[in-house]
Amino acid sequence: MLHGNGYYRAGHLRSGRPRRRRGAPYGQQVQERPSAPPCTEYDKAYFEAYAHIGIHEEMIKDHVRTTTYRAAIMQYQDSIVGKVVMDVGCGTGILAIFCALAGARRVYAVDASEIAFQASEIVRSNNLSDKIVVLHGRVEDINIEEMVDVIISEWMGYLLLYESMLPSIIFARDKWLKPDGLILPSHATLYMAPITHNDRYRDSIDFWRNVYGIDMSAMLPLAKQCAFEEPCVETITGENVLTWPSPVVRVDCYAVMAEELESVTSKYRFTSMMQARLHGFAFWFDVEFDGPRNVSSTEHLLLPETSSWDATSHTYNSSKKRTKSTETIVLSTAPEDAPTHWQQTLIYFYDPIEVRKDQCIEGSITLSQSKENARFLNIRLEYSSGGRTFVKETVMR
Ligand SMILES: C[S@@+](CC[C@H](N)C(=O)[O-])C[C@H]1O[C@@H](n2cnc3c(N)ncnc32)[C@H](O)[C@@H]1O
Repeated sequence: MLHGNGYYRAGHLRSGRPRRRRGAPYGQQVQERPSAPPCTEYDKAYFEAYAHIGIHEEMIKDHVRTTTYRAAIMQYQDSIVGKVVMDVGCGTGILAIFCALAGARRVYAVDASEIAFQASEIVRSNNLSDKIVVLHGRVEDINIEEMVDVIISEWMGYLLLYESMLPSIIFARDKWLKPDGLILPSHATLYMAPITHNDRYRDSIDFWRNVYGIDMSAMLPLAKQCAFEEPCVETITGENVLTWPSPVVRVDCYAVMAEELESVTSKYRFTSMMQARLHGFAFWFDVEFDGPRNVSSTEHLLLPETSSWDATSHTYNSSKKRTKSTETIVLSTAPEDAPTHWQQTLIYFYDPIEVRKDQCIEGSITLSQSKENARFLNIRLEYSSGGRTFVKETVMR
């Protein structure tokens, strides 16, 4: 999906096909460097979309996003001073410049979009050409003469995985990151929760029931299709959310493999905390800047088994979030946190379902890269409540 202003914005193979990677921990066998996947026509269109100023303006003006990255760079300044950094997908060069100002010896700022030309100019006019090398090309195709100490990237799309930029970070990690290198951010988690949104349904659907006294209910099927066929990027509040959220997937950027992202399936089970009309599900993510690889961690991509998240049993969520060190910087796109340009992604049902307090809502969600264009996401949402089962299939394009 292109963002509202016409620009992009901005995937269970649980090690089904194990692959040893370069610099892999725990004395695993070392594999030769990965080879570049082909650059498709879809990829070219994607990079062209990032040549427009609007998307970069929107991202940079997203104060939460940009200042959180800057804060993370400053938190890991000791790991950056005098070191070599790679900014994967540098855009205007803002993160590369933050790293240079934090003391990096050299920053390779890589972007396949023509925005790299502007990044070059910006670097020059800020007298940073001696530190920042802007490379116009895909990170999969560029060549540098040294390994890097740090990889930084802002790669997250709607539903976390839309845009499929994470495989490029994995590629850069496996090819260019030193074994003890730092990745910023280090972890990402996608969440989902059931929502109620009467205002939205009233505005888009019920509106047609009485238009200046005229019954236009004949419009209802078309209105539902147009409003709710595809995922919607909208801002909701905590009041729309019916229960504690459930994690769909958690990614360890040090260990995740591209194959694991091709298709992700996660089961969920919620217990509604109130009587309400269930209009669909909201999705959001957070990323953590958790520092260097935790050598004791065995996680790659975690798909929670069915997790129960009612008022009394949301311990999984609590422990996940609260055992984090208070030092960990988190960029959150949750409805209860300060808004970001990602907002939240909503998957609405065509017709709401009445749920009682304590009623169970369960099912599964599958996010798969589209075979046609890996940057699109095929979504399959199964849900059961009150003895009825439904399936919604949609595409984020
Ligand atoms: C979300 S923007 C982030 C831009 C910038 N880092 C910032 O924070 O403002 C992602 C950028 O990554 C670039 N990009 C995506 N995949 C890439 C790849 N495989 N190689 C090089 N650049 C890539 C896009 O062209 C886009 O400019």
